[in-house]
Amino acid sequence: MSKLDELRAIKEEVINISGELADTRRKENYFPVIGEGSHDASIMFVGEAPGENEAKRGRPFVGRAGKFLDELLQFISIPRESVYITNIVKDRPPKNRDPLPEEIALYAPFLVKQIEIIKPKIVATLGRFSMTYVMNRYGLDWELGPISNLHGKVFESPNGFKVVPLYHPAAAIYNQHLKPELFEDFKILKTLI
Ligand code: URA
Repeated sequence: MSKLDELRAIKEEVINISGELADTRRKENYFPVIGEGSHDASIMFVGEAPGENEAKRGRPFVGRAGKFLDELLQFISIPRESVYITNIVKDRPPKNRDPLPEEIALYAPFLVKQIEIIKPKIVATLGRFSMTYVMNRYGLDWELGPISNLHGKVFESPNGFKVVPLYHPAAAIYNQHLKPELFEDFKILKTLI
C-alpha cells in the first residue's frame, strides 16, 4: 500500500469510530481532523485536539493557535506544506476541554500509525498532553518532567527519531512571556532537519 492509501485507511477508521467525541462530531456536522502536510515530512508536529475552527474545516491548526504556528514556521523559513501537522485526539472535545485519558487512549493508535507511515526524523510535540503521550510511548518516560524544563530539548527516542517538546502555541497566546521561548525553540528545530 502507498503512504497515501495507508493514511486514507486511517481516515476511514477515524470517520467510523464510536465514542462521545465522534457522536458530537456527527451531531454538530463537524469533521474529524486527521492531519495534513507532506507524507515525507522530516518534522511532524503533534498538537492536542482540534478546536472549533479545526473541526468545522477538518484541518489542524487553522484558528488562532494555527496562525501563530504559521508565524513560527515562517520565522525559521520552513514551509507549512513541507511538515506534517496532526493531533493526538482527532475529534473536538466539547468547549475545548482537556482530552480525557480514555480519549487519548482511543485516538493515540492513529498517531502511532501516522508516525510509522511518515517516518519523521523529528516529532515536535505541542503542549504537555502530546509531550507526555509521545515520551511515554517512545521510550522516554524516564526523561519526563514539567514542560517548563523540557521544552526546546532534543531527546533521541530508541524508535529512531528525535522528540522535541515545545510549548503549545495557544499557551503562548495566553501567556505572552512564552512567545520568545517558542521562537528560540523553533530555531533549534531548524538545526535538526
Ligand atoms: N490546538 C490543537 O492542539 N490542535 C489544533 O489542531 C488546533 C488547536
